[in-house]
Amino acid sequence: MSDESIDVLLSEGRTFPPPPGFRERALIGDTSLYDHAERDLDGFWLDQTRRLVGWFQEPETALEWEPPHCTWFRDGRLNASHSCLDRHVEAGRGDRIAYHFVPEDPDEPHRAISYAELLEQVCRTAGALRELGVGKGDVVGIYMGMVPELPVAMLACARIGAPHVVVFGGFSSASLGERLEGTGARLLVTQDEAWRKGAAIPLKAIADEAAELAPSVQGMLVLRRTGADVTMREGRDHWWHDAVERQAATFEAEPVEAEHTLFCLHTSGTTAKPKAAVHTTGGYLTYASATHRWVFDIQDGDVWWCAADVGWVTGHSYIVYGPLNNGATSVLYEGDPMHPSPARHWQIIERYQVTQYYTAPTLIRAFIKAGSEHPEAHDLSSLRLLGTVGEPINPEAWVWYWKTIGGGRCPVVDTWWQTETGGIMIAPLPGVTTAKPGSATRPLPGIRAEVVDDQGNPVAAGRGGYLVLRRPWPGIFRTLYDDDARYVGNYFERFGPETYFAGDGARVDEDGCFWLLGRIDDVMNVSGHRLSTIELESALVEHPAVAEAAATAAPDALTGQTPLCFVLLRSGYEPSDQLAAELRDWIGEKIGKIARPKAVIIVSDLPKTRSGKIMRRLLRDIAEGHELGDTTTLRDPAVVEEIKQKADEVLAASR
Ligand code: WTA
Repeated sequence: MSDESIDVLLSEGRTFPPPPGFRERALIGDTSLYDHAERDLDGFWLDQTRRLVGWFQEPETALEWEPPHCTWFRDGRLNASHSCLDRHVEAGRGDRIAYHFVPEDPDEPHRAISYAELLEQVCRTAGALRELGVGKGDVVGIYMGMVPELPVAMLACARIGAPHVVVFGGFSSASLGERLEGTGARLLVTQDEAWRKGAAIPLKAIADEAAELAPSVQGMLVLRRTGADVTMREGRDHWWHDAVERQAATFEAEPVEAEHTLFCLHTSGTTAKPKAAVHTTGGYLTYASATHRWVFDIQDGDVWWCAADVGWVTGHSYIVYGPLNNGATSVLYEGDPMHPSPARHWQIIERYQVTQYYTAPTLIRAFIKAGSEHPEAHDLSSLRLLGTVGEPINPEAWVWYWKTIGGGRCPVVDTWWQTETGGIMIAPLPGVTTAKPGSATRPLPGIRAEVVDDQGNPVAAGRGGYLVLRRPWPGIFRTLYDDDARYVGNYFERFGPETYFAGDGARVDEDGCFWLLGRIDDVMNVSGHRLSTIELESALVEHPAVAEAAATAAPDALTGQTPLCFVLLRSGYEPSDQLAAELRDWIGEKIGKIARPKAVIIVSDLPKTRSGKIMRRLLRDIAEGHELGDTTTLRDPAVVEEIKQKADEVLAASR
């Protein structure tokens, strides 16, 4: 489709009501859920959790709120792995496929894993974990690729009541070590190597380095995936096939309180130390399951595919806990979306007759770039809904997704949420809500979102401001691991303890639809992943040549934003292209490939205020190619000229 017609669609302000044919068979066809939640919030959530979750002891209590802290379903007892697995098997649905596992190598056989098989594997793995000394409340780290054993390991932890901390398989040893140590993980589950773009990533070797930084880690359970030779440390490391396969096929699920920690998951923040959001069992499971059903209209016979990585919250909620608890059938794809060709996802959708597909705007833009001929060569007629998450979607990409992938028959749900929220907060109900490309539309039932000014007062329709959430929901994180002061300070100080400050800018239009405007703090969004500028800067100054560093984000057509870094060298080091390239790779190694900046620019000074603070606002203006704002508060206004010139050269070369 030509750009012109997209412009026309948008200038018309065209809206997209639920497509005919979808609305009639949608699970939710009216607004009664919103009405119920408004009338009786506690009753609404008790009703939802009783319908959706398998409790050993059903809760009588819903919300208990001592702002900013809250609990949900406090008197209930359950076990997440029991609710996700045993319950379905006991109801006679054991033969239903839980995961269609698609290995990255197209020639490797696929695996279909039923609920009964998944339960058995989880029980054996729980047996192995217990044998390795893991008990209720012990934290277990998981550093794996997208293999079925990853959800198995998570559910095995849940079965014991041991909180898991999954670290994305693309992170470096330093990032992994810091996350393991920060949460006191005792055991690490990993694998020899992981497949990515046809190459083998040495996860076990990286895990060995990380363990040096994390003395809390006493043992490792290692899955054999590629069969590579890896070093196994006697007494500490155990092969999965030795430790797991000989265990009993049953393992009693440990009943835990609703507020027991199910997992911790890291998010970036404005300081170098990553924050570990703590999620509970009862509230989180209820919220992930309810939002999965409502927003994606999950019904019997559907084949659901969330194409995220389990290492992010999207995978936790919509590959593991939401879909399994809802008894859904999912696709689990191991590898890269462009491997071996940009048609890979369309082949998988065609082969498995996928009905709902959920991905990120960055990937949609990559698919647009790769060319419409790839999806057009495949039968995508099984699809009946499309979703996006991770960053604002540009209307152009939205319309392409709707037309080229959805054939104009599938609602597109743009879902706004965060690691901290546990599940989707603002999104259409696909059988009810009229969509607008670029808007996540409305808060879900029970959610009260607002856009406010500096004083916390709601802004007028159409005006930008800060996105806040006014009351708790079951999926909200309860604290930051071992740092409740930071929980309160980061999220509940700015607008008071009853108001959750999301850190995103937004505006609401005349129809009450929310338009997200991106992060307002020093966090950038690269391919839908939050990276903090401080983390990049800290990594850079660890390099012997770097005296000082400042990171900002430049807009990027593909990834949304891309880091752009400025450094001052220590004396004795000379600027060179080679050094700049070395620093770029350095960040890739220190933090992970996703953080590798577009460029590291060596400058002779950084723009600082008289009090010595780096003026990031100016760096951002430079990176975004804007007119520079007020520079009069700078110590030396001349430095911005040099920086601007160098940045313009780099950005122009990469355009
Ligand atoms: C951004 C991912 C606009 C936002 C689930 C948020 C979005 C951060 C959207 C959370 C969306 C996520 N529209 N922006 N639909 N979804 N974001 O913790 O800035 O990895 O604060 O959770 O991503 O990222 P996180």
